[in-house]
Amino acid sequence: ESTGYETILVDRPRPGVARITLNRPKALNALNLQVMGEVTAAAAELDRDPSVGAIVLTGSAKAFAAGADIKEMQPKSFSDVYAADWFAGWDALTRVRTPLIAAVAGYALGGGCELAMMCDVLLAADTAKFGQPEITLGVIPGMGGSQRLTRAVGKAKAMDLCLTGRTMGADEAERAGLVSRIVPAADLVDEALGVAEKIAGMSTPAAVMVTEAVDRAFETTLTEGVLFERRLFHSTFATADQKEGMAAFVEKRPPIFRDV
Ligand code: HXC
Repeated sequence: ESTGYETILVDRPRPGVARITLNRPKALNALNLQVMGEVTAAAAELDRDPSVGAIVLTGSAKAFAAGADIKEMQPKSFSDVYAADWFAGWDALTRVRTPLIAAVAGYALGGGCELAMMCDVLLAADTAKFGQPEITLGVIPGMGGSQRLTRAVGKAKAMDLCLTGRTMGADEAERAGLVSRIVPAADLVDEALGVAEKIAGMSTPAAVMVTEAVDRAFETTLTEGVLFERRLFHSTFATADQKEGMAAFVEKRPPIFRDV
């Protein structure tokens, strides 16, 4: 992939798996415009690469990301952020169709929590700390936090977190349904890469379809969502991978998906 990124590292640690590591350690991976540009460009490039079946997005042991870059935002006026549609660029990440796995250790605050919530799967180290502390800065979440957090954990906890700015540990985040698993910090990256490798080994059309179907649940009614799912399900029968997956089961052997 493109080299020349300054705020992220991009590598291919396992077959079919790419990893984007946020890498601004001196600022606890605060998300400035450059990080936004690089993460979204790298993710879009990996998304176009058929050899990549899953992407892990991670930070450091201390911080996934401690938020949007406060020092960058401090001098901005209303007209600055409005004209630039500040943060809208992050929406590009939600158009990535390759499954995205967030592996969160340490701080995931403000924009960091919102970035993690844009991913498809969210794994947390036992050291993870989530929160939307924007209110302590006199602002509110601007990368989707008030919406995605509410959908993930419900109104009661979302209001509590967004109004007080407090942080929530990994246990509370798992109980609330924000994260799918908690992993000891030392094992987090390995576990995330393992999950990614497993997903990358599935039929790519099936993985992308089920991701689209789950995401649809947040955009539509139950009847329409179930119809959308059923039509996608029907269309899997047009793939060679459906033939292979079912033949392999009947023949009692592992399937070899060719992503077609
Ligand atoms: C810019 C940041 C930053 C941030 C940390 N740093 N978070 N810089 N933007 N969001 C910088 C610090 O200024 C410091 O730089 C260095 O990273 C290390 O941070 P420390 O505070 O010294 O570390 P520590 O004492 O361990 O405290 C960690 C922390 C604290 C609790 C996470 O850094 C913190 O509270 N950060 C801000 C968290 C936050 O409010 N996030 C939400 C941002 S708003 P120097 O140069 O001093 O060493 C947001 C969305 C905004 O995300 C939406 C609408 C505007």
